[in-house]
Amino acid sequence: MSDTKREETLVLIKPDALKNSLTGYVLSQLAEFHTGLRFAATKIVRVDKMLAEEHYEEHRGKIFFPSLLEYITGMLHYPGEPWRQRVIAIVYQGENAIKLIREIAGPTNPHVARDEKPGCIRAMGTVVPLKDDDGNVVGERMDNLIHASANEADADREIKLWFTPNDIPPSMRSYETEKNEDFYYLMDNKLYTEHKAGSTCFLAPGNIAWKSDLEALRLIAQGNEAACSFEAVVAKYLINE
Ligand code: GTP
Ligand code: MG
Repeated sequence: MSDTKREETLVLIKPDALKNSLTGYVLSQLAEFHTGLRFAATKIVRVDKMLAEEHYEEHRGKIFFPSLLEYITGMLHYPGEPWRQRVIAIVYQGENAIKLIREIAGPTNPHVARDEKPGCIRAMGTVVPLKDDDGNVVGERMDNLIHASANEADADREIKLWFTPNDIPPSMRSYETEKNEDFYYLMDNKLYTEHKAGSTCFLAPGNIAWKSDLEALRLIAQGNEAACSFEAVVAKYLINE
């Protein structure tokens, strides 16, 4: 993204914020009047495992990764209540949006947030000990209410991971789009370019898609490596399916 006036960031209001009825508080901290930014898109998302894994891809393999997936999918805060397992995803746009929202969010660890930046959103979060089957503490989980993209590359990847172009008004889109000319189908997490019984068509000719997604799909369809995984492309088309 070259136009800094239209810099975009992905904000997620996480399940702990929903559970503690802090959505109004978080949104008031993010009010356009205070930030000078513009809401470009928003949706309620039931986060599936594929989307969660792609979103937190950089943490794959770390000790806290499984609990992070359980957290962001809402399994921890709403076990047995799938109708409540949601996050609120927002694309927020304007000059310096990434840095501004990271500052309002505050440090990752809520204890650190309270010490170093009282008043930031994450100062209202909590740290939960993780225990093994014998009750020994083996780590911790940071319930920090909100996600905000950390830098331009992350924002680019994350916004295209969670949103299709059609979720964002055309006049507000900051990333390149392209009109798709092929059929793309999904079955058992695999890509097909021809219909197979039981497959789902997730992109058809005439659909507007992120240019980078179509570049990736063309490569993947030919059996080549792409800049991102097939999961990263397809996850957004499975949201709330
Ligand atoms: P997000 O906005 O959620 O991406 O947080 P962040 O950018 O401030 O931190 P980062 O991307 O490094 O980590 C993503 C999430 O993983 C955090 O929100 C935490 O919930 C969790 N996390 C990150 N680092 C640690 C850690 O060292 N220990 C534990 N237990 N959890 C961590
Ligand atoms: Mg992060």
